[in-house]
Amino acid sequence: MAVNICGTGSYTPSHVMDNNGIAKLVDTSDQWIRERTGVERRHIIDGETTVSMASEAGRRALQRAGVAPEEVDLILVSTISSNVILPCAACEVQKELKASNATCFDLSAACTGFVLAYNTAAAYLAGGIYRTALVIGSESLSNLTNWRDRGTCILFGDGAGAAVLKADGRRMYLPVTHSEGQKGSALSLKSRHDWNVLREPEGPGHYDGGEYFMQMDGKAVFQFAVKKVPEVIRETLKRNNVGQEEIDWFLLHQANRRIVESVAKRLGEPMEKFPVNIQEYGNTSSASIPILLDEMNQKGMLKKGQKLIMAGFGAGLTWGASLYEWI
Ligand code: COA
Repeated sequence: MAVNICGTGSYTPSHVMDNNGIAKLVDTSDQWIRERTGVERRHIIDGETTVSMASEAGRRALQRAGVAPEEVDLILVSTISSNVILPCAACEVQKELKASNATCFDLSAACTGFVLAYNTAAAYLAGGIYRTALVIGSESLSNLTNWRDRGTCILFGDGAGAAVLKADGRRMYLPVTHSEGQKGSALSLKSRHDWNVLREPEGPGHYDGGEYFMQMDGKAVFQFAVKKVPEVIRETLKRNNVGQEEIDWFLLHQANRRIVESVAKRLGEPMEKFPVNIQEYGNTSSASIPILLDEMNQKGMLKKGQKLIMAGFGAGLTWGASLYEWI
């Protein structure tokens, strides 16, 4: 039993901040950001929330799939930046979409989140537990970004992407995923729901930023990604006995254009097989792969019988890849 992606959707805020806008906040330049990351602008929430973006992306995916909200058995939201902790974002999406028959929960695995959420839903579907799943990656990273740190604030953006999955009788491709908790300090963020923050005399919200915003060793993350992503793609191909030449598209998490280029080079593949939209959105963590997938789908780039690999990597550290044949 395998799964069929029968609809995709995405939502990104209309408010856009280009690199010149970032250069007003920190000591950087449009040229530096473009050359080192490939990012030209990012969409930033302006009234939207992680839940509202997730709901809209989910609604669009269901409409395109021709699936009624009541048919959905499982809603899985991958996020590290939800505006709600309780109830979970997936339950809030359920409420918004009136998907009254769904079981709902969130998954937190940062930039590998969509791949892991897809795998989780696929396993439920393949196991016959559910028949129809709505898998969403949604992030408001602007809320977690230290806008005074030029090493991180240049990279991130907000948005959501979604896919509707149904069980079908085709061959099931198996994913490969890894985690390495020992290296977690390379990309970290402390919860603000912490007594040490709350008891500060000025009250919550008056800490100076630092550890309560995203902290990153950019070089370490870069080196990890360019080594581990090609490895996990090769492992995935081997595990499924599929030749690399059979893959039409490599959908990588959009973290840095140079990471994508380096992975393509290490795999000996042309950049044409690696769609990139980081110039428009920056790094939207677990939303980046489903936004990219939806854009490709809407543009008619995905043809029946084409094989694609989705590969995510990021905080944890975590990384993984999944193979899918488009129908
Ligand atoms: N603007 C201008 N100069 C900057 C800068 C900025 N925004 N950020 C850093 N610099 C400077 C540094 O101070 C340093 O100057 P120095 O040589 O005088 O000391 C120089 O540029 C090089 O800094 P470095 O940190 O080595 O740059 P880099 O080439 O590693 O690029 C990142 C930095 C963050 C763009 C890059 O490491 C990266 O993208 N890493 C991966 C991050 C990632 O993908 N995270 C999410 C994973 S899911």
